[in-house]
Amino acid sequence: MQTQSKKKLHGQYYTESAYSSLLVNRFQEDSVSVALELGVGGGALLSAVSGRWPDARCVSVDIDPQHAQEDSARPVQHIHYCADALTLELDNVIGLMSGVADIAVCNPPFISADWNTSYSVLLDRAGFKVPTKALRVGADLLFLAQNLWLLKDSGQLGIIIPAGIIFGDKNRAVRETLLANHCITEVIELPSKAFKNTEVKTFILNLQKNKTTNSTIKLYRCDKDGTIEPFIEISLEEAVNRMDYSYYEWKENFPAKSYGPGKILEVFRGGISTAQARQLGIEVFHTTDLKKQLKPGRIFFSDNFGEATCNSNKVVAQLGDVVIPRVGRNIEGGVHIVEGGKALISDCLYVIRCPGRTPEELYEALTSREGVAWIKAHTHGACARFLTKSDLKKFPL
Ligand SMILES: C[S@@+](CC[C@H](N)C(=O)[O-])C[C@H]1O[C@@H](n2cnc3c(N)ncnc32)[C@H](O)[C@@H]1O
Repeated sequence: MQTQSKKKLHGQYYTESAYSSLLVNRFQEDSVSVALELGVGGGALLSAVSGRWPDARCVSVDIDPQHAQEDSARPVQHIHYCADALTLELDNVIGLMSGVADIAVCNPPFISADWNTSYSVLLDRAGFKVPTKALRVGADLLFLAQNLWLLKDSGQLGIIIPAGIIFGDKNRAVRETLLANHCITEVIELPSKAFKNTEVKTFILNLQKNKTTNSTIKLYRCDKDGTIEPFIEISLEEAVNRMDYSYYEWKENFPAKSYGPGKILEVFRGGISTAQARQLGIEVFHTTDLKKQLKPGRIFFSDNFGEATCNSNKVVAQLGDVVIPRVGRNIEGGVHIVEGGKALISDCLYVIRCPGRTPEELYEALTSREGVAWIKAHTHGACARFLTKSDLKKFPL
């Protein structure tokens, strides 16, 4: 199989030594007899484990046969299996009963897998809610479940996971389950682009299985060398909402503004996709058109957009509106005021109005230091970043 397609199929993004050392050095275990790694790849995490506990028996699994051959220089106490880590009877395959591993390290593939009925068992036995109508499921969650199942009580897991589990609305139940059943010792936010060729925002989640969680959780952020900043401590109630350092840093830095009395914004999401517009043969203003504007932060719609706009019941941006991307890598940099013309906007944009405030005031607020920090702190999504309408309506003015 071609390297590129295999990389995509198996989510092969490898951990750099700064992050593998950080992950392993944060463990509080003094001695380790059995260490496990599912999806071992080139062994970045497990070699950091061997470095710290040279006598540990290491058990690793990877679906890609190439990873088995690469490690011919593996120490005798390291046993590797070329297998699917998501098989139900993984314990039989690797000869490691559930509840035996002292520690587990993992950087799972961030891919979504077609739903398979065995995944219900796999999620259920790790205590996670089983979706009733799932078509696909994140492999990161399935790997998390398998690790929890194989780990001993009070054993530690250090796992690299995407932003979705840390603060995505859809994963609230996952966070509730983790917090209710295990002791999350800390969450470390990794720098953006921590993994080559992917934009996914990632975190190290460190937990102890089946131990009562402390009343607070420590959040850290690290730089490219793996050096961490002083922690921010959050309550368990806050942790159910989200566990990312950057959000709580923003909250600490701008407390008064964020909770002061604000005007409610009127927010309208564009009602037509670019594909639909193409089919209907009409022009729609899209995020890519923002870059074509001549004046920074200003939009002047050309006459191309006029005709469709007049006959449409979809959202139209016009003079005095503020436009902001709903999705994209640089939402905070995409705020614009409409200075002339009218246009149908695509479903990747919002139009914002605020009765009682001028467009300039609104623009200033959204592009101020606090505004940019607010937008960044409220942007969701691991890979495709997005801002929700309900969050944007609460933007503090
Ligand atoms: C994100 S990479 C991480 C590799 C390594 N642990 C690291 O941190 O550098 C994920 C690894 O999981 C492997 N993988 C993907 N799906 C798998 C599966 N179902 N069972 C076992 N391994 C799998 C891939 O081949 C890849 O080596």
